[in-house]
Order: sequence, then structure tokens, then C-alpha cells
Amino acid sequence: MSSMEEIVVTRREVSRREEVSFDDLGFGDFFSDHMLICEWEDRRWGTPKIIPRQPLAVDPAALGLHYGQSVFEGLKAYHGTRDGKIRLFRPERNAARLASSCERLCIPVIEASAFRQCVTGLVAAEVEWVPRARGEALYIRPMIFANEGHLAVRPATRYTFVIVAAPVGQYFARYNRALRLKAESTFTRAVPGGTGAAKTAGNYGATLRPMLDAGSAGFDQILWLDAHDHAFAEEAGQMNIFFRLRDEVVTPDLSGTILPGVTRESVLTMLEDWGIATSVRRISIAELAKASQDGTLLEIFGAGTAAVVVPIQSITFRDTVIQGRPGGSALLSERLCENLLAIQHGEAADPRGWTQLVETG
Ligand code: COI
Repeated sequence: MSSMEEIVVTRREVSRREEVSFDDLGFGDFFSDHMLICEWEDRRWGTPKIIPRQPLAVDPAALGLHYGQSVFEGLKAYHGTRDGKIRLFRPERNAARLASSCERLCIPVIEASAFRQCVTGLVAAEVEWVPRARGEALYIRPMIFANEGHLAVRPATRYTFVIVAAPVGQYFARYNRALRLKAESTFTRAVPGGTGAAKTAGNYGATLRPMLDAGSAGFDQILWLDAHDHAFAEEAGQMNIFFRLRDEVVTPDLSGTILPGVTRESVLTMLEDWGIATSVRRISIAELAKASQDGTLLEIFGAGTAAVVVPIQSITFRDTVIQGRPGGSALLSERLCENLLAIQHGEAADPRGWTQLVETG
């Protein structure tokens, strides 16, 4: 889909917005009135349509359901605290990542300009659904799945591209405290040569069993380790991970098994702009445990579109507890979160042009 046909819009007669409690949004509990849908057939994307949100027509043998040929994205539209304008945050990064996920899963790529047209079209139709409170946003979830009914394991010939939108708070807001992570020593999220760097459904389904087990043991999330040795930190599933070690911030290098987060990239850039040293490299649990003991591990935090930037209290690996919040240190995670939100809500200068205004008519 390089250049796309005009979007055809059919609006709901009566909005459901009044039914939604905007003072307690959570994450994913509510959806906006409309969705965008576009079908790939005969080797081309058809006309994108914005229609009232409704169930999809899915073949019971859809290859996307059976064999996981399915990719998605996540980005947010923010309400300008001062000017009331609607801003998207770095949508071109999501377009690029979606394209690379599509390549990995043999799904026809949606070009960046078409992606942008569809996302802005839906956001423009749903301006009333963009929450006004700081830190909240309209979360945009584009998704493409193979919708051809067939039983052979092969790329499909038909695909459905949908975008839904959800007014949300920050993903972990309801915890209202720093998170406790379990470093997973049995299960693995991604393997070298696998799909870890793609935003594809299977990467998430495979984490549910270990996540439930970690939850029953009192943890909030999992820190995934490398598949080979279960010795090196990778990512936390819903976000990338950062460690402040003395005067440097370390995050694992992507190496094909880690999702290349847009917030991760933005955090690294902000730190560099502030003159704080960053290091993108492998980092082992042993190194972290030692740094936690000798007091040089000053902070651990996660960063992601849904999560924004969240402090992490501890990481437990078997019997070792790595403390992420030794008392007294000024929190870099708070400064990062604050700066990101200020840019996203149009309160602060945006020197790198990360935000893009949505014409709302
Ligand atoms: C995002 O941060 O947008 C994500 O996709 C994480 C999600 C699975 C909640």
C-alpha cells in the first residue's frame, strides 16, 4: 500500500462516549466509537474504511489465527494541555517497525505514508475520545492478520488490516508503585533467529503461562533473559529495560531478540541530549547483582509506549534480589517520564520534531 485511496467514513449515529468513565480509564477497558478496516485481496490493499466499531468477519480457518501470521503496533495520540491540539508521538517509527514486522511474517507491507493516512484519519474521527488528563492518551492499535481460510502452512493471499483506538491511562498506573520483576530462569521469550524483534502475536501468547506463574509468586512482571544461558537481561515483555549504574545508563543491545521500542530509542536520545552517558550492551544478572550489593546500581526502570517510563523496585533471580531503588538517589525515571509527557502534551519544546499534529478539522 504505497499511496492509498481516500478513506471512506461511515459514522455512528450516537457516540458511546458518555458511557465511558474517563476518570478511571485503566488500559484497554474501553474502546472508541469507530475502527479503520482495509482488506488485502488480489495482491493489493483496498479502500480503507472508517466504520462503527464492530466484530470482524473472520474465516474459521484464517491462517492468522491458526499459524500466527499476525502483527500489530501501538502508538498514542495526546491532547495538548495548553493548546488543545492533538499530537501523535513519532508515528513514523511505528510505521517502520510495522513494515519490518510484516517482512518477518511475510505480510504485505503498508507503506509509511499510507500508515500515517490511516492513523491520522482514525484519530481525526475520534478527537472526542482523546483523554484530556496528563499522562492519558488515545492508544492506537493497528493490526494486520492473515484472513484467508486454508490449512497449508504458507503465507496467506488475503489479509485484514484494522486499527482500533482506546482511551487509556498509563499501563501500570493502577499499581501506583515501583514494580517487582522476576527474572525468568526457565521459560524464554525469544531466541536468536526467531521473531523477538517483531511485534507479532505469538511473542505475547507464549509469555502468558510464565506471567501467570510469576503473578502467583507475587511479581508484577517478568524480566526476560537470553535464551542460551538465562544470564543476560533482555526486555520486560511490555517494555524495554534500563539500568542506571553509577553515572551511566545501560540498556541491552537489541541483537534481534528484543523489541526495538520507540520509547527506548527516545529515552536514549533524551539522555544523550542531557549529557548523560549511555551504554547499549549485554548486561548480566551477575553484574547487576554485584552492582546492587556494592551500591553502584542506582536505578532500574522500564520504558514503552503503553508504560511510558516506570520505576522498577527489584528484580528477583532465583534467590538473589537485585534492588532497583536504593534510598536517596534522585530518580532519572521521573525526569524522563516528565520530559516525555511534556513533549507529548505539547508543553515543552520538541527539538527533534517527535510530535506530529493531527488536523482535526
Ligand atoms: C505498547 O507499549 O504499545 C505495547 O504494545 C505493549 C502492550 C503489549 C501493552
